[in-house]
Amino acid sequence: MTPTRDDILARLDRFTHPRTGKGLVTEGVARAVSIDAGKVQVVLDVDATDAAAMQDLPARIEAALLAMSGVVAASVLLTAERSTTPPPDPRRKDGPQKVAGVARIIAVGSGKGGVGKSTVSANLALALADQGLKVGLLDADIYGPSVPMMMGSTGRPIGRENKLIPIAAHGIKVMSVGFLMEPGKALVWRGPILANAIQQLLHDVDWAPLDVLVVDLPPGTGDVQITLTQKTPIDGAIIVTTPQDVALLDARRAIDMFHQTGTPLLGLIENMSTHICAGCGLEDNVFGHGGGEAEAEAQGIAFLGALPLTRQMREASDSGTPVVRLYPDSTEAERFAEIAARLTR
Ligand SMILES: Nc1ncnc2c1ncn2[C@@H]1O[C@H](COP(=O)(O)OP(=O)(O)O)[C@@H](O)[C@H]1O
Ligand SMILES: [Mg+2]
Repeated sequence: MTPTRDDILARLDRFTHPRTGKGLVTEGVARAVSIDAGKVQVVLDVDATDAAAMQDLPARIEAALLAMSGVVAASVLLTAERSTTPPPDPRRKDGPQKVAGVARIIAVGSGKGGVGKSTVSANLALALADQGLKVGLLDADIYGPSVPMMMGSTGRPIGRENKLIPIAAHGIKVMSVGFLMEPGKALVWRGPILANAIQQLLHDVDWAPLDVLVVDLPPGTGDVQITLTQKTPIDGAIIVTTPQDVALLDARRAIDMFHQTGTPLLGLIENMSTHICAGCGLEDNVFGHGGGEAEAEAQGIAFLGALPLTRQMREASDSGTPVVRLYPDSTEAERFAEIAARLTR
């Protein structure tokens, strides 16, 4: 079996720097480590003053690498052109990685579930598409993927050339963890596997070309959300909340999380802001009203708008055609169009 790059780095790190006593990788002198079909190449980039004491290292390291099973050739080069700033540790590959062919990623988060995060994600994605943008919608809510139902997309995505093809629905590209789960069964992946699965839904799906990818995050502030925001540069996050105090408290935590991970906050949307009765048109502030706007102001983030609680909003989602498409002339659709316009100007 061919060793991985990590195996090579681990082996290299067992050789210590003669001056500092630290491993060569930890010390940052092992550069340009590559492995290709069992051929390993390493450059040791050292301070000129250390070079003499390290003359015999390349031969010793080459011998050690050749002793690893699967290594057919090893070449270790010692150079002394090191600049004063140490290079990053090559084992670190967790820096943010852009999604190829996707111009902008907008994440939709909430402090808790059931506040309408998926409803907002789906309708906002469609309202952005109505502006002439190429839009994708990624349902990363492992706890309750609801985008397949809301977008009326069943079916299983097929693969082509190592990439999954997203499902086309209502003019946008859709991918959901729900497509990859057995219907009716909860996902049992945990921790790193889960975070990894979501990375795959970003990087191993044929999204390109997209002007904007809307990501429906799981509710709350757990590992999955944090890993996602750290591993992929998110251009902006939107927080969805209801006017209720408890939802606002949770929203505050979500806002904190985005601040801490350095994700720009595009603003807050208050959902279920007021109930408009389908029968008589009466407005009723079921969950209180205006809390979202006050909270946005208190947190110093933009207030993107309030969405009413209406029967047709829910019915549209349940029918597989979100309100923006099913009732394009409705107040709800108008609100989404306004929010989409704010996000693109
Ligand atoms: N403004 C609204 N008016 C009426 N029903 C709504 C509204 N927003 C969400 N819903 C309904 O509330 C439920 C939860 O919404 P959902 O978007 O799935 O929340 P989340 O993704 O935050 O868990 C769904 O049945 C949805 O149709
Ligand atoms: Mg949801």
